[in-house]
Amino acid sequence: MISPWEVTGEVDYEKLIREFGMEPFSTLLSEIDDPMHLMRRGVIFGHRDYWRIVDAMKNKREFAVMSGFMPSGYPHFGHKMTMDEIVWHNEKGGVAFVGIADMEAHAVRGLSWKETHKIGMEYIKAIIALGLNENSVIYFQSANQPVKDLAFELSEEVNWSELKAIYGFNGETTLAKMFVTAVQAGDILLPQLSHYGGPKPTVVPVGADQDPHLRLTRDMSARISIYAFEKIENGVRIRSRKGKEFLKKIESLDFQMKFFEEHVDVFGNEWEIEDSVRNLEIKTGGYGFIPPSSTYHKFIKGLQGGKMSSSKPESFISLLDSPEQAEKKIKNALTGGRATAEEQRRLGGEPEKCVIFEMYTIHLLSDTELGEIERDCREGRILCGQCKKMAVERVKEFLKDLHEKMREAESRFEAYSIISRKDMV
Ligand code: TRP
Ligand code: SF4
Repeated sequence: MISPWEVTGEVDYEKLIREFGMEPFSTLLSEIDDPMHLMRRGVIFGHRDYWRIVDAMKNKREFAVMSGFMPSGYPHFGHKMTMDEIVWHNEKGGVAFVGIADMEAHAVRGLSWKETHKIGMEYIKAIIALGLNENSVIYFQSANQPVKDLAFELSEEVNWSELKAIYGFNGETTLAKMFVTAVQAGDILLPQLSHYGGPKPTVVPVGADQDPHLRLTRDMSARISIYAFEKIENGVRIRSRKGKEFLKKIESLDFQMKFFEEHVDVFGNEWEIEDSVRNLEIKTGGYGFIPPSSTYHKFIKGLQGGKMSSSKPESFISLLDSPEQAEKKIKNALTGGRATAEEQRRLGGEPEKCVIFEMYTIHLLSDTELGEIERDCREGRILCGQCKKMAVERVKEFLKDLHEKMREAESRFEAYSIISRKDMV
């Protein structure tokens, strides 16, 4: 079972791609210059419309990266993966939007505003420490009036039956929990408001469980738009959701076109047509949203196997853990090792089952080092004790450095535009 608030059982990623209608990431990989390690290593396994971002990066056009963090527990290595993805796109030239989902934590997990503020600030310190640059907007949902206004408008585009079908809501679900789905849609479309320069390709890096939010937001953004596009031979077919007078306005554009009762066929380069129509839409009082793109990463395993759970601190390494706490957790972690040393030398280990190897893949090692460890492990040349020692060293070194950078980040807050609640500071 997989929903934004609960994941249980084994996850079959190919099935996810098929059932949710995501695209496999592998087919795009060769088109990306210098892809991120999580892309090369198959940790990012799926996407929607990521070609828009590839295209923007290639042609040095404006784009945004946006994701959110629910401050119901302190940030851990799972969040670091999303943070690294945001920072990577930010370094590639994208303006980064980081939302602290305090409304969600309040509505779904029952935390007070004081608590969500305190925890949220740790996420902010961590992502700045991980390299987020100043071409970014960091905010708490509850302090961001445009997000809340947009959420309200988007909520006009969806009814109860749909929410029930998408999220499995029932008679017990609170209005607040339903509303935070609209707030998340507001987060995702925020980078495209005129205040931030209007429509632009936006990628949302998330875990696969967040896909329902993306499907809903993509639907909402299409529904709230005045114009709908459909590719035809040599051009684009355009319909208007707001009636024929709006369709007539297309006439003012400088393309060849053919008018029909319910649509207009416009001929020429499809991107140029869409761009002009979006500009027209904005002039006509609309948003002109581009459907958001997304990337999906795999879930990381709990340190003891099974799921990571915020209620079980021994199941994950927190970014706030002391190096010594992390050491202890790694020493107790489940590996892909065999029952005895003799057996492991003979049969080799099983890195695909090993949480240490997963840490290496996602966070700690270069391609060469990773390749070496994998070979040595499979061929039984190293044993888990020795391998864990290296993991311990790397994690301790990483945490020491991160904590120092987090302290530094605190003194550089003014350089960033952070939208937070004055009543909490
Ligand atoms: N719901 C997300 C979570 O539980 C957090 C989130 C809030 C988010 N707003 C977002 C994620 C916008 C991506 C984009 O982790
Ligand atoms: Fe995991 Fe390392 Fe043991 Fe292999 S040797 S199973 S990678 S801990």
